[in-house]
Amino acid sequence: MRIVMIGSGYVGLVSGACFADFGHDVVCVDKDAKKIAKLEAGGIPIFEPGLDQLVAKNVAAGRLRFTTDLSGPVGDADVVFIGVGTPTRRGDGHADLSYVHAAAREIGAALKRFTVVVTKSTVPVGTGDEVERIIREANPSAEFAVASNPEFLREGAAIEDFKRPDRIVVGIEDERARGPMTEVYRPLFLNHSPILFTRRRTSELIKYAANAFLAMKITFINEVADLCEKVGADVQDVSRGIGLDNRIGSKFLHAGPGYGGSCFPKDTLALVKTAQDHDAPLRLIETTVAVNDTRKRAMARKVIAAAGGDVRGKTIGILGLTFKPNTDDMREAPSLSIIQALQDAGATIRAYDPEGMDAARALLPDITYVASPYEAAEGAAALALVTEWDAFRALDLGRIKAVMAAPVLVDLRNIYKPAELERLGFRYAGIGRAADAEAADVARAAE
Ligand code: UDX
Repeated sequence: MRIVMIGSGYVGLVSGACFADFGHDVVCVDKDAKKIAKLEAGGIPIFEPGLDQLVAKNVAAGRLRFTTDLSGPVGDADVVFIGVGTPTRRGDGHADLSYVHAAAREIGAALKRFTVVVTKSTVPVGTGDEVERIIREANPSAEFAVASNPEFLREGAAIEDFKRPDRIVVGIEDERARGPMTEVYRPLFLNHSPILFTRRRTSELIKYAANAFLAMKITFINEVADLCEKVGADVQDVSRGIGLDNRIGSKFLHAGPGYGGSCFPKDTLALVKTAQDHDAPLRLIETTVAVNDTRKRAMARKVIAAAGGDVRGKTIGILGLTFKPNTDDMREAPSLSIIQALQDAGATIRAYDPEGMDAARALLPDITYVASPYEAAEGAAALALVTEWDAFRALDLGRIKAVMAAPVLVDLRNIYKPAELERLGFRYAGIGRAADAEAADVARAAE
């Protein structure tokens, strides 16, 4: 199949490279000439494990090309994917579809023969209808069908998720789209990935409903974690205990500092807006959004409490800045609100992240960036682990303790065992752990 991918961001680039790896002929397009030049020179604009090799291999095989000009490739294509950004629109929380609409207009003008145009970007219900209208307007005689094919890949595991998806969802209104979409994904059927064909609006909603459900699941366990701290229970075991029930499932029950990233915050907000507009409010998701927002600042209060209740003039070490490990993505990262709140309380911040510091510098200019976890701990009244990078799982804790002003570890991802840390002479605060409850009991008894 001849495939064109419009938009060479996260989803576009990963999908394009994976389609090429399946043996399809793929052209990735982006308006950003610098990005395309970098890709042509063998550079990768994002950090995603394995992506550099995958791109290099398929470029060398002649199956993957990059360009800023979509017109030639679109004219020859069997399937054109729209994978441009749909950021939150300023002011009202809706998804900003201006890039999608612009892409549709340009595709319309470039179509030469029957082509399936597919929205892969996360787009609100009804966007497929809009794309169809815009293409028709731009080119009244064009032969095309518009399909919806949301992407469910996670950053940091993007290639694996793309190649072994739990399911492929395709929404069509025109039966002519079914054949080409089946061909595009045929290589995945060997992995037994099921393909679900449905109507276009349903497919668009599936993506939002999936992300909203996962965001709600995380938020649920985060609130349960808070309760655990109050009643002397352990959220890790609660997660295990409920997750073993197949109806609940064990994934996305890891309590932490609140979800971030380029998808959950934006998509939950957009879904809430759509639901309100249609007078069918999704109150559970409205609450999820509100609870998650307040959680990030609450995490800063947790750090302040662990550092003795006052951080004015004190140094706080931060391990991990990105919204999750194995990415350099800082979008909606909990670290942003946590660090801001700690600075507001008068703390000086020393931070280390394996991949995120370049991106962080622009967003957090007034902190000291250091070259290792040990330097982040230097002189710190507390060390807060915000992102669970593997590199933080086996730290030399003796060395950390030796350089800190006070041995306090606030583990916002529960990667350490409270008892072990306490044995080493640390004061340990995790998320929803029995040890925290014991500490709270001790504090209450002391009052
Ligand atoms: C998510 C969806 O998983 C993916 O299907 C969709 O296509 C895009 O959005 P991503 O944003 O890359 O992917 O990351 P994900 O691994 O889902 O994590 C999102 C956020 O939730 C992170 O901030 C993460 O730390 C947090 N999270 C996740 C938890 O706090 N606990 C969990 O148990 C899981």
